[in-house]
Amino acid sequence: MQQGMAPLTTKDFALPQSDLLNTYVGPKQCSEQQCGVAPQSRFDCAPDKAVSQPECLNRGCCYSPLHKSRDLGAPWCFFPSVYPGYILGKLNQTKGGENAHLTRSSKTFIPQDIMALEMDVMWETEARLHFTLKDPSSKRYEVPIDVPKSKWRAISPMYSIEYSTYPFGIIVRRKSNRRVLLNTTVAPLIFADQFLQLSTSLPSSYISGLGEHLTGLNLDLNWTKVTFWNRDISPHRNANLYGSHPFYLVQEGDGLAHGVFLLNSNAMDVILQPAPALTWRTIGGVLDFYIFLGPDPQSVIRQYLDVIGYPLMPPYWGLGFHLCRWGYNSTAVTRNVVKNMQRANFPLDVQWNDIDYMDSRRDFTYNQENFGDYPQMVNEFHGEGLKYIMILDPGISSSGPPGSYKPFDDGLKRGVFITNQTGPLIGKVWPGPTAFPDFTNPETQRWWTENIKEFHAKVAFDGLWIDMNEPSNFVTGSLDGCPNNTLENPPYVPGVVGGRLASSTLCASSSQHLSSHYNLHNLYGLTEAIVTHNALIEATGKRPFVISRSSFSSHGRYAGHWTGDVESTWEQLRYTVPAILLFNMFGVPLVGADICGFLGNTSEELCVRWMQLGAFYPFMRNHNDKPNTPQEPYVFSKKSQEAMRNALVLRYSLLPYLYTLFHQAHVRGETVARPLFFEFPADSNARTVDQQFMWGDALLISPAMEPNVTEIAAYFPPATWYSFYDGSSIVSKGQYLLLPAPFECINVHIRGGHIIPQQAASLTTTQSRFNAFSLTVALSRDGAARGELFWDDGDNLNTFETDDYSHILFLSNKNMLVSEPLKLNSAIDGLTLQQVRIFGVPSPPKRVVVNQQSTADFSYRSDTKVLALPSLSLLMSDAFEIQWL
Ligand code: NOJ
Repeated sequence: MQQGMAPLTTKDFALPQSDLLNTYVGPKQCSEQQCGVAPQSRFDCAPDKAVSQPECLNRGCCYSPLHKSRDLGAPWCFFPSVYPGYILGKLNQTKGGENAHLTRSSKTFIPQDIMALEMDVMWETEARLHFTLKDPSSKRYEVPIDVPKSKWRAISPMYSIEYSTYPFGIIVRRKSNRRVLLNTTVAPLIFADQFLQLSTSLPSSYISGLGEHLTGLNLDLNWTKVTFWNRDISPHRNANLYGSHPFYLVQEGDGLAHGVFLLNSNAMDVILQPAPALTWRTIGGVLDFYIFLGPDPQSVIRQYLDVIGYPLMPPYWGLGFHLCRWGYNSTAVTRNVVKNMQRANFPLDVQWNDIDYMDSRRDFTYNQENFGDYPQMVNEFHGEGLKYIMILDPGISSSGPPGSYKPFDDGLKRGVFITNQTGPLIGKVWPGPTAFPDFTNPETQRWWTENIKEFHAKVAFDGLWIDMNEPSNFVTGSLDGCPNNTLENPPYVPGVVGGRLASSTLCASSSQHLSSHYNLHNLYGLTEAIVTHNALIEATGKRPFVISRSSFSSHGRYAGHWTGDVESTWEQLRYTVPAILLFNMFGVPLVGADICGFLGNTSEELCVRWMQLGAFYPFMRNHNDKPNTPQEPYVFSKKSQEAMRNALVLRYSLLPYLYTLFHQAHVRGETVARPLFFEFPADSNARTVDQQFMWGDALLISPAMEPNVTEIAAYFPPATWYSFYDGSSIVSKGQYLLLPAPFECINVHIRGGHIIPQQAASLTTTQSRFNAFSLTVALSRDGAARGELFWDDGDNLNTFETDDYSHILFLSNKNMLVSEPLKLNSAIDGLTLQQVRIFGVPSPPKRVVVNQQSTADFSYRSDTKVLALPSLSLLMSDAFEIQWL
C-alpha cells in the first residue's frame, strides 16, 4: 500500500454500466482528494488519443488542464490516486516464491481487457527477483530466448516484497535500507490483449538504458517517451532506432544501483516523468519483469547478463582497425585502399566491402565486371595478414526470372520467407523487390547456412556485416500494402516514427514460423545474428565475427553492433560516447560508431578527433557513405595523418589489455568500455559523466570532441591518475581539471593500482601478436598495483571453455613487481617481455634487480617519478621478479 492510503475495496467504485458495449464508464466523479495529484506525478489516462473533459471523466479519470511551462508534457487527463483495478487473490507459496490469481470486475477504456491474470513471483537468486503476469486461460506470445530457471527460492534475498490487494500492486524494497525500488501502486495495471501497462515510482532520477535511442547516458525524465520498434533511421533524438533493449539501471544516489528488465519484444513505449516514475506500455506478449538488486552498477549488469547471456569472445583480429566505405566499387579500388594504408604505415586488420561487390545488389553473388577476381583479392589480403568482411542484407531479390537466382528459387521452394495471406511478403530493398527470410524457421536457418557456406567456398571471408535487418523496407509493409486488421492497426500505436508499425518495415500481421511479425519484429536482427553466427562457425571453423545493425537483448552472445548512419558532425561524435557505454550495459561490448561519421562530408579536424576517440571504441571501424568526400586516414595532411597514426598505434599497443577485458566480459559479465560511475559509484560527480569513459577499471579516456579546442575540462574521480604518455601524476579528490588537448593525441590516464599489459604495434595483429610485450605499472598511493593478461591463439573456438589459453597475473607491492602465470598454453610460447614502466616511484632507486640479478639498464625521471626498464628479455611464460631498492 502507498503510505497514508486508506485501504480500499471494490465497493468504493462504481462498476461499469455498459459492459456489452465494451466502453468503460467509471466512477462518474473522482473526489477532489483523488485528483489532487501533483503534475509531475500524474499518470496519463488518455495515452491512446486526445480526449475532451467529458470523455476523460467518462473514463473515471481526473481532468485538469495545466498551463505553466514547467508542466509541459504532464497529462491533463490522468488517473485518480485510486482507480478500479485487479484484485489480488490468495497468495500461494511455491517452491520458487509466490503465486496468485488476479481478477478485475470492471473493464478499462482499452478494448479486450483480460479479466483474470496469473502472477508468478520467483525469488530466483539473492539479487534477482523475477515476476510474471500472464493470462492463465490462453497462452500468449513469449520472447523465445533461453533464460535461467531457479527451482528454489533464494534463502536470504536482498529484496522484500509487499503487495497491495486492491487495486493490485507490488512493492519491492532493498532490504538493507528499506528503499522502495519498484512500486506499481502509483498507477493502475492494465492488461488487455493489445495494451499492457505497468507504472512504477523510481527511487532517483538517475536512470540509464532503454536503448536504442540517441540519448545521453542518463535519460531525461521530463515527460520523455522512448519507443521500442526496431527501425532503419539515422540516429536522431526522439526516434525509435535500430535495436531494442528494454532494460534500465538506476543509480540510487548513494552508490547503490538496481536494474529492471522487461522481457517483452512487442512494440513498446516507456514514459519517463519527473515524479520520478516510469510507465512500461507494450502492445502484446506478457509482462515478464526481472529486478536486479546489484548492489553496485557492475553487479546489476552481471545479473542482467546472467539472464540474457554473457558476451561472446571476439577474435583478436576483430579488435584491430577496420576500414570500409560504400563506393569501393571494384577489387582494384579496394586493393588500392589497402595499399595506400600500408604505404602510409597505418595499422589495418580488416578490409571491408559494402554492397558494391554484389551482382545487381543480390546477396551471395559478386559482380563479374568489377569484382571478377574477388576471391583472389581476398586471398591476397590473407597473404598479407589481413582479414576480410563483406556486407549481407536480409532482403533476397525476388524479381528475377525463375532459374536466375538460386537463393530465391531455392528459398521459395523451401518456404523460408516471411509470408502474408498470398505467399512470401514482397517488399523493396537495394536489389528491388525482395522477400525476407524468416530466421525463426529451422528450414531458413539451414538455407541461410548453406548459402553462407557455398559463398564462403568461393570467397574466403572472415566475418560478416549484417545490415538493414530491422528489417528495413523501402515501401510501407509490402509492395501490396498491408491488410487492415488489429495487428496492423492496434488500439494503441507506440510513438513509432511514421506513425504506423509497418512504416519502413514489413506488415505487422505477416507470418513467421514462431509467431506474427507483430510479436517478432524486434527480434529480426537478433535472429539473423544468431543464424549468421552459427553459419560462420560452420563455414570457417573459427571464432565468428558478426557486426549487426539491429539488435535485441542477448545480442552480445552472438554479435557486435555499430551505431548506424551517424552524421559527420561534432554533436553526433559526442553522442557516440553514451551510445557505446549503453551497449556495453546491454551486454554488447563489441560496439563502435562509424569513425569520421557516415552521412555528409567530414572535416579534417573532426575526422582526427573521431579517430582518436574511435581508437577507444571496442570495435573500431571507419566507414563512409557513397556520395561523400573520402575519409581514409591517408587522404589527409601529414599532420593529421600523424595524429591518426598515433591513435592507431596507441590502440594496437593496448590490444592485449583490450582483449583481456573482452575475456572478462565473456566469462564474468563485465563491461569493456564503462561509465565512470561504474568504477566510482559513490562519487556523485561521476553520475552523469558521459563525455569521458573508462576501459575496464584502469584507463580513463578523455576525448576532445569540440572544434578548435586546445584544452578540455575532464573529470577525475578520487584516485591517483597518471598520464599514460609520460607518467606524470594527478592526485584527485574528485575534481574537474583543464587538460591540454593537443591535436596529435587523445588524453588517456591510468589509475593508480593498475597494471596494463601491452604489445608493440605492427601494421596488423597477425604481426603484432609476435611482438614483445611491455607493462605499464601505475602504483597506488601505498605502492601497490595489479593487472592480468588473457592470451590464446586469437581465433580458435571456445579456448576458454576448452582450457586452451594462458592467464598471467601481474602484481606489484613493496618495490617489487612479479608475474604469476596462473595457466599457460602454447600460444604464449616464445613471447617476451621487453619493457616495463613503473609510474609513481617516489624516489630514485639505487638498485634494480631482475630475477635476482642487478641491472644497470634502467632510467628514472625525478620530474615524473617514472622508473623505466627499456630492454628486458624475459619469457612471458616464466614467472619473473623485478625489484627496485
Ligand atoms: C545502410 C548502412 O547503415 C550503411 O552503413 C551502408 O553503407 C548502407 N546501408 C549500404 O549498404
